[in-house]
Amino acid sequence: MASETRKLLVTGATGFLGRHVLQALHASQPDTQALALCRRRADWNRQAWATPLDNVDVVEGGVTGAEGWTGDRRLKDCAGIVHLAAVVRHSRHEPADLYETNIEGTLRMVRLAAQLRCPMVFVSTSGTVGCFESPEDKADEDAPYVERTVGSWPYYDSKIQAERKARALAAQLGVSLTIVRPPILLGPGDHRLRSTGHVLKYLRGAYPFLIEGGMSFVDVRDAAPAILRALGHAAQRPVYHLDGTDCGVVEFFELCRQVCGVRPPARVLPFGVAHRLAATAERMARLAHRKSPLPDPVVIEMGRHYWGLTSLHAERELGYKTRPPRQTLADTIDWLRRNALTPTNS
Ligand SMILES: NC(=O)c1ccc[n+]([C@@H]2O[C@H](COP(=O)([O-])OP(=O)(O)OC[C@H]3O[C@@H](n4cnc5c(N)ncnc54)[C@H](OP(=O)(O)O)[C@@H]3O)[C@@H](O)[C@H]2O)c1
Repeated sequence: MASETRKLLVTGATGFLGRHVLQALHASQPDTQALALCRRRADWNRQAWATPLDNVDVVEGGVTGAEGWTGDRRLKDCAGIVHLAAVVRHSRHEPADLYETNIEGTLRMVRLAAQLRCPMVFVSTSGTVGCFESPEDKADEDAPYVERTVGSWPYYDSKIQAERKARALAAQLGVSLTIVRPPILLGPGDHRLRSTGHVLKYLRGAYPFLIEGGMSFVDVRDAAPAILRALGHAAQRPVYHLDGTDCGVVEFFELCRQVCGVRPPARVLPFGVAHRLAATAERMARLAHRKSPLPDPVVIEMGRHYWGLTSLHAERELGYKTRPPRQTLADTIDWLRRNALTPTNS
């Protein structure tokens, strides 16, 4: 490609959001070259969805560990960093790699942005500010961190620390940094079966019960183009929220039932009972070196909260629009049925 080609570095390229960001870039700016950071080139080569993306070049490396790749000549004149790489795991068990990746990895990308003199978008999560006891509460971009609520959940704790430290480092190094906070991402193409894993478990009938609480989600196909556009506003806008559909857990699975006909569990347990069951199952599973059949206790604790989010600027400045939630659920379920369920259990 010619040396004046616009280039963007995308971390987390092999993930669910990375896939959609790269696809959105290919669709909207096919002349922009994406430098996709991948820990192992072989992993990238296995991504069949990436084959049509002829504007993507792989940079082999991680956001933690050796940083030799940051001297790659292809990064010269990079127009921006879209930092998506993270460990997303909802558990208190052995969180060291999660903290290292989510905090130190983000700070390394801020230092790289300073070195390359380019703006950076860091995708955090709505849960750093939008997690409440009541469905009435909503967080806008100016809301304070909710560390008292989420501080014992390593993933959210790491994202709050990453946001704070990245903001301070960016100010010190003169980097234009904008933080984008989406809620749970759903939609087709979650090839790692992580972000949409709870929908897959529901389709498999693997949930023995539900609990009362909240849920907030957005379509990854709506979030990805907005994240790309946020790069153009990194100098002016410190934070964008990408609000989606806020609903109850029971209501969410009822919506899924209306879309696909699979009945969700009828039993809705009080939080205390569900939490005790999950904690006991987790202890026993660890002793037996097995995976617990119940959700991690952290997931139960999260599930009883509400994740209300308001976007003040995304629609006007990023052209952010969300499609109807039923369409997101229908496309998520359809994709999971075709790609993750065998004919016997679909
Ligand atoms: N999915 C959601 O519901 C959701 C909601 C809100 C915010 N977010 C945020 O959106 C971002 C992307 O999420 P996702 O759903 O796409 O996650 P994902 O599917 O689990 O993908 C995670 C990505 O991060 C990469 N990664 C992990 N550790 C790394 C390291 N040390 N160095 C380089 N790359 C590393 C993974 O690469 P490997 O292939 O090498 O493992 C993978 O590409 C994350 O920052 C997440 O916090 C996600």
